[in-house]
Amino acid sequence: MGMATRATSRRLLLLPLALAIVVAGTAAAAPAAAAPPAASPFRTVYAFGDSFTDTGNTHSTTGPYSFGYVSSPPYGATFFHRSTNRYSDGRLVVDFLAEALKLPSFLPPYLSAAASNTSAQEVGVNFAVAGATAIEHDFFAKNNLSFDITPQSIMTQLGWFDAHLRAAAGKGKTNKVGDALFWVGEIGANDYAYTVVARDTIPPKLIRTMAVQRVTTFVEGLLERGAKYLIVQGLPLTGCLSMAMTLARAEDRDNVSCVASVNQQSYAHNRRLLAALHQLRQKHPDAVIAYADYYAAHLAVMRSPSRYGFTEPFRTCCGSGGGAYNFDLFATCGSPAVNTACAQPAKYINWDGVHMTEAMYKVVAGMFFQGGDAYCRPSFSDLLARKAQGKP
Ligand SMILES: *[C@@H]1O[C@H](CO)[C@@H](O)[C@H](O)[C@H]1NC(C)=O
Ligand SMILES: *[C@@H]1O[C@H](CO)[C@@H](O)[C@H](O)[C@H]1NC(C)=O
Ligand SMILES: *[C@@H]1O[C@H](CO)[C@@H](O)[C@H](O)[C@H]1NC(C)=O
Repeated sequence: MGMATRATSRRLLLLPLALAIVVAGTAAAAPAAAAPPAASPFRTVYAFGDSFTDTGNTHSTTGPYSFGYVSSPPYGATFFHRSTNRYSDGRLVVDFLAEALKLPSFLPPYLSAAASNTSAQEVGVNFAVAGATAIEHDFFAKNNLSFDITPQSIMTQLGWFDAHLRAAAGKGKTNKVGDALFWVGEIGANDYAYTVVARDTIPPKLIRTMAVQRVTTFVEGLLERGAKYLIVQGLPLTGCLSMAMTLARAEDRDNVSCVASVNQQSYAHNRRLLAALHQLRQKHPDAVIAYADYYAAHLAVMRSPSRYGFTEPFRTCCGSGGGAYNFDLFATCGSPAVNTACAQPAKYINWDGVHMTEAMYKVVAGMFFQGGDAYCRPSFSDLLARKAQGKP
């Protein structure tokens, strides 16, 4: 690490100097032409997913029942200093994506007023909805499992995307589908969570088959609409979320002390998803379909939390009940009994028991966007280069 890192940082140190000389040299000729930051090849992003990606399509009374205080403090306390209806104390991975692409703003949530503001729309739209499933809501309703009150699935979001394109066309806007980056955030974790009480009739294997099939249909739908650049995120280590840890038997643990059965479920899901993406790439060689390996990123952090600045890998920062997890499903973050968070959220991975802290999302985003092809394949920089060359 030593030599290469030192050489690189020396080059980085030299860079502003070199720029300063160039700018000084041209100053007389063009005073206003200070070198702009390198432009990002993407100006528009469309995002989809569930609460890990939702930047405000739900609020306290429309989001998942168990996390029904997202509009209250201390949600948003770290970065926005108020609730923005993000399920965290600050920015999500999709917000760090907007920053990495130097977009002028974060993506407006589709259901907000900002999304009908044409100039805000330029950066794209976020269609992700907390509580959303990969499988259509009807399936859960038919099986009497619709206690979640978010009726949207990933295919609902595709319908919203179509409505958005129609509205933009109506305003005389050109269709940017082929130039946009499509961010398919983690989707499917809720499908397993909602059916956990009905394991005998609806085994996880059936959920896996159905959920991956729906995600595949969804991604294919984007490709059919002209999408050329896509990043599809897999499931994280859902067995390391405080809620899963609280609910599982104490013996059900793996090598990172998380719930083994739940992590295995996510692992199997991701393998199936990867196989499906592989087929989609063969069928659509004119598109770049990257896989953001949330599982590997999360696992790297769980293996050595302190390396990433975390001292509390399991406890919920904004929770109650104390103990090893500080999580109580009946007194969750933002409820009257839990109106303050831990003193140092940046030391925690878990924010409210199911969603992560901004600090964790930032680490994961760094792995996806700066980690070469270790956590994103093909790599984010490769995707940017292909877009810049106009050759997907
Ligand atoms: C629309 O968005 C632009 C840019 O974000 C902002 O300056 C403007 O005030 C917004 N207009 C309305 C009506 O919200
Ligand atoms: C759902 O609940 C209804 C009413 O209690 C019952 O008639 C029906 O059989 C249930 N369906 C399933 C799939 O359990
Ligand atoms: C350690 O646990 C993780 C998460 O359950 C699992 O994916 C991985 O395969 C395990 N590694 C070994 C060496 O068993």
